[in-house]
Amino acid sequence: MKWTTTKIRKAKGQQKLACLTAYDYATATLIDGSGVPLVLVGDSLAMTMLGYPTTLPVTMEDMLHHTLAVSRGVKEALIVGDMPFLSYQISIEQGIANAGRFVKEAGADAVKVEGGAFRTPLVKCLIQNGIPVLGHIGLTPQSVKEMGGFRVQGREPASVAKLLSDAAALEAAGCFAIVLECLPEAIGRQITDAIGIPTIGCGAGRHCDGQVLVTHDMLGLHSAITPRFAKRYADIGTTMKEAFVSYKAEVEAGSFPSDEHAY
Ligand code: KIV
Repeated sequence: MKWTTTKIRKAKGQQKLACLTAYDYATATLIDGSGVPLVLVGDSLAMTMLGYPTTLPVTMEDMLHHTLAVSRGVKEALIVGDMPFLSYQISIEQGIANAGRFVKEAGADAVKVEGGAFRTPLVKCLIQNGIPVLGHIGLTPQSVKEMGGFRVQGREPASVAKLLSDAAALEAAGCFAIVLECLPEAIGRQITDAIGIPTIGCGAGRHCDGQVLVTHDMLGLHSAITPRFAKRYADIGTTMKEAFVSYKAEVEAGSFPSDEHAY
């Protein structure tokens, strides 16, 4: 059965929610087939798929291209398209138009935008116009330059108070869930206990209502340094490299193709 935002909301306190990123058809099919309820076409694809050092350069066209591929592979999970840098910050009108493209052209069920209370005018307009929104606070990678790097947030009392009021504002604006990225575990718990919608932790500890990982990190596909919270469930990168090395060696030795691979 297809996951809806209503089902995601109702999962709070009942079922922990797993979320993974997907950027292509094949991976989306495998994630969906594993029963993962939330698939995020993250703007992290700037780094994992396109090789940029940050998420900032990825475009709407890049995001729509990958979201459409993912939506062809997903039957049951809720698909969230991540709005890229400057696709929603310039004006509410532009934000609605671009969010609409994720739904209308690329098959997304919802969009994700970064930012707290200051983002609620846009969040409200999107929801009023039928586009569900996943919030995102804590470390917000589209503000990496202003934040001074990829750093754990919420270490100062003032920033904890701001995170709590941002989470409450996003809930009041109508978000169906909120990503909490890179926060101390105690702060992840405080926010989770304070709001009535699910929190999806990304390095925010064990008490969030759900967890999200970048699939490339958890599969060991990413050669860059992976964050401490990103548990590695497989080492697919090494398996792929070994296959490439074997293939090259067999082609060079003339042992591939063999009899069984020839017509
Ligand atoms: O872009 C992304 O993959 C994300 C998650 C890590 C939350 O925003």
